Order: sequence, then structure tokens, then C-alpha cells
Amino acid sequence: MTPSRIAFILCLSAATFTVANAQSAKHPAAPDTKSMPWMNTTLGPDERADLVLKQLTLDEKIQLVHGIGWGPLREGAPVPADNNGGAGQVVGIPRLGIPSIQQADSAVGARMAASQSRYATLLPSVLGAASSWDPEAAHLYGDVIGRELRAEGYNQSIGGGVDLARDPRNGRLFEYPGEDPVLAGTTVGHLILGLQGNNIMGDIKHYAFNDQETGRTVVDVHLAHKAAHESDLLAFQLGIRIGHPASVMCSYNKYEGDWTCENDWLLNHVLKDQWKFPGFVVSDWEATHSTVKAAKAGLDMQMPGEEYFGAPLKQAVQSGEVPQARLDDMVHRILRSLIATGALDNPSTPRFVVDPFKGRDDAQHIAEESIVLLKNDKGILPLSPSIHSIAVIGAHADAGIMSGGGSAQVDAPGGDAIHPGQSTKWGQSVYFPSAPLRYIREHAPSAKVEFNDGADPAAAANFARSADVAIVFADQYMSEGADSSTLALPHRQDALIEAVAKANPHTVVVLVTGNPVSMPWVGQVSGIMEAWYPGIAGGQAIANLLFGTVNPSGKLPITFAKSEADLPHAEIFGLARPKSDAGLPEHWAEQHKDVSFPANYTEGVRFGYKWFDSEHKEPLFAFGHGLSYTTYAYSGLTGDASGTVTFTVRNTGSVAGTEIAQVYVQLPTASGENFRRLVAWQRVPLAPGESKEVTLKVDPLFVSVFDTVTDNWKLLTGEYTVSVGSSSRDLPLTAKVTLH
Ligand code: BGC
Repeated sequence: MTPSRIAFILCLSAATFTVANAQSAKHPAAPDTKSMPWMNTTLGPDERADLVLKQLTLDEKIQLVHGIGWGPLREGAPVPADNNGGAGQVVGIPRLGIPSIQQADSAVGARMAASQSRYATLLPSVLGAASSWDPEAAHLYGDVIGRELRAEGYNQSIGGGVDLARDPRNGRLFEYPGEDPVLAGTTVGHLILGLQGNNIMGDIKHYAFNDQETGRTVVDVHLAHKAAHESDLLAFQLGIRIGHPASVMCSYNKYEGDWTCENDWLLNHVLKDQWKFPGFVVSDWEATHSTVKAAKAGLDMQMPGEEYFGAPLKQAVQSGEVPQARLDDMVHRILRSLIATGALDNPSTPRFVVDPFKGRDDAQHIAEESIVLLKNDKGILPLSPSIHSIAVIGAHADAGIMSGGGSAQVDAPGGDAIHPGQSTKWGQSVYFPSAPLRYIREHAPSAKVEFNDGADPAAAANFARSADVAIVFADQYMSEGADSSTLALPHRQDALIEAVAKANPHTVVVLVTGNPVSMPWVGQVSGIMEAWYPGIAGGQAIANLLFGTVNPSGKLPITFAKSEADLPHAEIFGLARPKSDAGLPEHWAEQHKDVSFPANYTEGVRFGYKWFDSEHKEPLFAFGHGLSYTTYAYSGLTGDASGTVTFTVRNTGSVAGTEIAQVYVQLPTASGENFRRLVAWQRVPLAPGESKEVTLKVDPLFVSVFDTVTDNWKLLTGEYTVSVGSSSRDLPLTAKVTLH
């Protein structure tokens, strides 16, 4: 063999060896995870996390506290080989069997499915789900998301929004469970339980006071600690207590001068010290602003990016500016969350496709419990299947049903139902293929059911004039990144409803809205149904309620105001009305501002029904309100100092129904509170004529006040007034309970 040939062969085998080595580096042999000490499931999550921690190098620790995000959305951005296409990824440590954390936006269903040719169920909005006041429905909601994320290869949801509806114009209200801390916290807590039951890490967000989108990255919220604990923070506290989420996402805004993602009081003091939260704090996307300050304040994971928690954090640890123990604590929290939720022991390896049928059935069940019948004059509803003619008008009810936007946007099967074939863009409404018209027709097969698009109010009125009933659909697109500058329905739909109502006295309005809206026509129509964004089976659910196949049971988790003037703040903080060339949809408030501005929550805890009650204002529709096709009577209230409340509900009508019985408490005068608090409720299914005794236990936390001297909750002595009934404004039963 010639020397050159030998050299060539050596070269070749060296090259082959290098390639083989590179491949094994890229695809290392699967570690024998079973034999690793931290895989011993008889040990607790903290112990197991510490065993992993001991094996990690400094670089590996740094790798676990930040990640990439939106990679697939950004052209040219580096994307790790095992990226799952979601909003974020923290690259794992394969040599130790620690998987990458694959994070998916999933507020109302898994986002970004289309780019991977996947399917995801669109659930009703979270505000809708909260209208069911049903922890089981919330659990099911989380379960749908959890099982679909699992089938799609994700192991973390970054949904779980629980920011309270301080302002009914907030663009993201559809992602949140309303205005009451107890109802909201309970709803999101059970949602997280359902989700994490699938061995998916859950999240709760946006901590805290991310209550408006206008200037969300610069707005500086001011609210006294007492009021903060008793309102916005209570919702998080409760959601965390019930759901044990793996992570808390800190928000974009500031609180008392500090960004929430580097706010020592919020993260270290309240979340970790007072509430003993054992999981990790992840920043909202690009909401990290520093290395040392954020690390010391309690932030555990920067997402996405490395400019703070990459090399700079490594340096800060090496120089001692950030103690090694703090970095270890960050990593410990992340690892223990992977372990505690089962995401390490039962990794999400896609083995089958999402079940769209089960998803749709579950979404429909939740929607049917969520839709709220607001008005029903002279029993215009339910419609009779033998009705002769129905005029269906507006909101593309012939083609589909609207969904909410932003990072909560779920991809519609087949694309936007009203613009087939067109790809969806941020800030542009997407309709799902569940057309109410089709399902209304199915309920009344022999009726003349026709559709008018409502673009011309006069033409729509003529169209509606001779029908037995006119059903006007009105919708309102809302999305992350902008608020509505007004409570009014957009696109002159008020004028449409007024015109139709004038032409036909039997007019029913079905609202498909992200938020509460004002209704200048409220007295002119016979029926009003709030369907929120009802999800993939929205059309079926609406039709089932219109025809009484399902008796409405939902109740408002948020107050409907008559006008902006009745709200604690007539305008959104920092509002700049969109200029005509701003490219924002009609009515939208401006999103970004460069200069910080304050949001002084002078109302303290008094927003929503607490505001309307204490200010003696008449709402358009009260918190807790919701009608049924039957009626209920309340009797026999007793309450005692142990917090037990007992009363009886009777179905006094002729059809079966489910009443959401509500318990409110007004605290002793020493509290200074001139309003009631929602403290308990129960869904009570009742056959016609049936009575049930309901016994509820009031959680002492819900009737406590936060004492800033002891920095703790306390119960006041004195007289508590317990009220029970069907809404915050319909409370026929009252009892006094004295605490000594
Ligand atoms: C939103 C978060 C979301 C994140 C990732 C942010 O703009 O505020 O709610 O999870 O983006 O998409």
C-alpha cells in the first residue's frame, strides 16, 4: 500500500470516527435513568432534586435557569434540535436524564399547533369557564389542555392566568377568571390540578397586577399591601394553595416602582416566605430586567434569552455577587417541580394524536355551563322547535364563532372560518368552524331559518321584521397587547341591535365577547345571552341553550356596568386613543409606551361588585346574576361561628335546572368594609319541585383581614352578616353570626 493511500485511509477513518463521535454527542445513548439515584420514587421531590443538583456543573446550572423562546417564530433564531415548537424551551441535561422543558402557551387550549400540523381543542374563554362556578368544569378544562400538551410532546403549560378584572376593558380578560379573588383563585386552582394530573407542569400568571394591556411593560401599579393581599394576591394565593403549580410567571408591569420580576416584596417576601411556594418563578417573555437584582429578588428563570441569566449570572455567581446558594435554589426549584408533577418520571412522549372528538365534547360541556342568560322577558326563550321562522343576524353566525387573540390564540381547524385559506396574524380575529346558524337549523328543521350579515342595520331590520324571532349575534374581538378604550360593542353593532329590535319585538341578542359590554338597547330587546368566546363547540352550545335542550345555569363572574362613568376609573390608565393611522382595530387602546406611568389603584379592594355595592351604583347586570328556564326559592338559613352555613334551595318551576347558590359575608364594622364578600357557593342540581338542603363551610381566610402590623391575616371579633341567594344583588336570606 502506498503511503498516500494509507494516509487517505487513516484520514477517512478519522473522519468517520469524528462523524460518529459528533453523532453520539448529538444523540447520546439514552441514559440508564432507572438506575440513577434521583429516580428513586420513594424519595420526596426535594430530596430527589438535591441528588441531581449535586451532579450538575456550574454551566449546567446556568443552562437550566434560562432558555430560548418563540424560536420558531423568529426567522434565523437558533433552535435546539429537540425543540417542540412552543413558546419556550429550557434545554435539558441528557447525561442525567433531565428532559428539556418544553413550554406551551395554553390559556384556552394549546397554541401554535398549526406550524407542527397538530390539532388543539379551543376551550371556552377562562372568563366563560368561571361563569360555571364549577370546580369540576375547571378541572376538566385543565385536563383537556394537559392531555393535549402531553400528546404534543410538551411538559409545561404557561397558562393559568388569574389577574383580576379590575378594569372590564382589559384586553386579556377572556384569559382570566373574573373579578372576585375567591371565585378566580378557586377556578384557576382546579384548572391547574386538572392540568398537572397529566404530568404536565402547570403555571399561574401574571404575578402580579398585570390588570391592563395599555402600557403593560411600563405601567407602575400602586396599591397598599393590605388591599393587595385581600384582592389580587389572594387570587394567586388561593390558586397556588389549590393547584400547586410548578411555576409562577412574573409579569411585565412594575409594582411600587420595581418590575415585578425583580420585586423582592412580591417574589421573596410574599410568594416564597409567606406562601411557602416551593416551585420556580419564570419571567414573562422578555420581562427580565437585571441579573443580580432579579436573582436576589427571587426570579428563578429568565425567559427567553440569556442576557441576564446566561453568562452574566455565571459571572455574578463566580464573583460572589449572587450567592452560589441562590443559584442552587433556582435550580432546585426547577428540578423539584419537574419531579413533583411527574414530568420527570412520566415524560411526554407523543404516542397518539390528540382526540378532537373528546376535546369537542368536553369544550361543549364547559360552554353549556358557562353561557349566561342575562335577560328573558316574557319567557321568549327557550325557543320552541315548532317555531315557524327565525331571522339570524350578524357576527358571521353563518360561518363560525369568534375566538380570543394574542398568545392565547388557538389555531382553528381548517383556518379562519370566515377567511378560508388565509393565515392568521397577531391582532386579527379568528373564527372557529362552529356556526350557530347550522345548529339553530338543526333544532328547528321545519322552520324558515335565514341569515343576514347585519352589515346594513336598515336592511337587517327589514329582514327581521316578519320573523317569529330575530336572533342578533354581536361579537367583540379582544387580544393580548391592547385594551378596549370603551365598554361599547365595536363596529356599530349597537345600532344594528337597535334597528332590529325596533323592527321586531321578539329580538334576542347573543353576545360573543371577550369582556362585559355596555348595552344601550337593553330595554328594547326581549332576551340577552352572554356566550363569551364559547370555544370549538360554541355554535352547538348556544343552540342547545336557545332551545332549552340545556337549561342555562351560568352566572356572571364579573359585573356589567352601564357605562364607563360608573367604573372606579372612567378611563384606562395611560390611555391614548388610537390615531386613525395607528393600525389598531376600532376601539383599541394603544399598547406600548416608552415612559413609565403610574396606575394608582385608589379603589383598593373595591372593584367589581364591591365597588358597585359600596358606591350604591346600579350595575347593568350584577356579579353572580344569571337566569334559568326554571325558578328557585331559598329558605331556612342558619350560620354559626364555626363557619358552617346551611340553607335550602327549591326548584319552583317546571323544568330541571342547576342553581348556583351564593353565600356572601359582610364583615364587622371594625373592618371598615361597606360591601359584602363572596365566600362560598354551590351548584345545586334540582328536578322540578325538588328541594335540597345545602351545607357549606366558609374558609376563615375568606372572611379575614390582612393586618400589616403583624404582616398576617386575622379574624376580627364582632358581628358578621351572612347573606344567601342567587346573585350579589338578589340575597333573600340573611343571618348574623357573632365571633367573640
Ligand atoms: C405573554 C405571556 C405568554 C408569553 C409567551 C407574553 O407576551 O404575556 O402570557 O405566556 O408571551 O408567549
